[in-house]
Amino acid sequence: MRVGLDNFRAVNWHHESGGVQWIEQRLLPHCFEQVVSIDPENVAMAIETMQVRGAPSIGATAAYGLALAWTKDKGRFFDFWLARFRSTRPTAVNLFHACNAMQTCAESNPTAQQIIEYADAYADAEVSANKRIGKTMAEFLAVGERRILTHCNAGWLAAVDWGTATSGIYHLAHAGEKPFIWVDETRPRLQGARLTAWELNQEGIDCRIQADGAAAWMMAQGKVDAIVVGADRIAANGDVANKIGTYGLSLAAKEHAVPMYVAAPASTFDANCSTGLDIPIEERGGQEVLRMDGVDIAGKFQDVSIAAPEVSANNPAFDVTPFTNITAIINESGVWNP
Ligand code: MRU
Repeated sequence: MRVGLDNFRAVNWHHESGGVQWIEQRLLPHCFEQVVSIDPENVAMAIETMQVRGAPSIGATAAYGLALAWTKDKGRFFDFWLARFRSTRPTAVNLFHACNAMQTCAESNPTAQQIIEYADAYADAEVSANKRIGKTMAEFLAVGERRILTHCNAGWLAAVDWGTATSGIYHLAHAGEKPFIWVDETRPRLQGARLTAWELNQEGIDCRIQADGAAAWMMAQGKVDAIVVGADRIAANGDVANKIGTYGLSLAAKEHAVPMYVAAPASTFDANCSTGLDIPIEERGGQEVLRMDGVDIAGKFQDVSIAAPEVSANNPAFDVTPFTNITAIINESGVWNP
């Protein structure tokens, strides 16, 4: 069976067990596995350990996890679970929007059925927002802007379904265009190489993985028509927090007059942050930089050290791109102006 958009979701309610189901993204592209749990703590840990990642998917996972907590405990300990889910990751604001939405729902003392439907509606809204973003993006990309560079994974895995940055690419492909995608590998966790390239390949879209350091050089040679990335949080002035390396891309794009587009649903906007300086940036463990995992020739998972054991690492997970470096931000309502 094809594993791709409109066929699977990064996260969903699992009716048979009365639990949450998600794709174990750390195993991709080598192994496609869905996990089901009826324990809200496992769902929180799935976000924390990045089994599920990407801003809209994180939000939807928290929504389902909170629906699960409500149905299990009949509303008792709900404040504990709200705090637990809010503590899982700091930068993607979708997580906090989802927790707030579930809190509002809980205040109306819903039945189990109602709160599950509410979480479903939250996830569905993200998917329809993504589709609208992609439609606009596909129209927005000028004719000829078909060699597109993307960073990290802002695909369906990251956004429940369709993706944010990839949605425009999928719309182009479905319209019979032939987009070509430069996929930044996205060190240290390699979401580009592991996830975006896999997604695009599943959809039959031509792409090539490149080292992050190759991006500026491809632009200098006129081989990039546009950059499209997602976002984890967008401040009121239009500054964008996204995967580490996005800011550097924006500098190179400006230098080489390559348009830089950001695709993100309303759930990624944070009016409480007036500028990017207010956005909390997640610092992750150095092991992600110092070690690599993957499968060996026999298909067995291996985890190896790539640095001298006595050296430590710096690992900011996100950076902030100033709005002045961005050509346009596209959301489900069209082109957004700060
Ligand atoms: O650390 P991650 O993998 O959760 O970071 C994901 C990103 O930075 C994505 O680009 C962003 O969430 C946009 S997702 C549609």
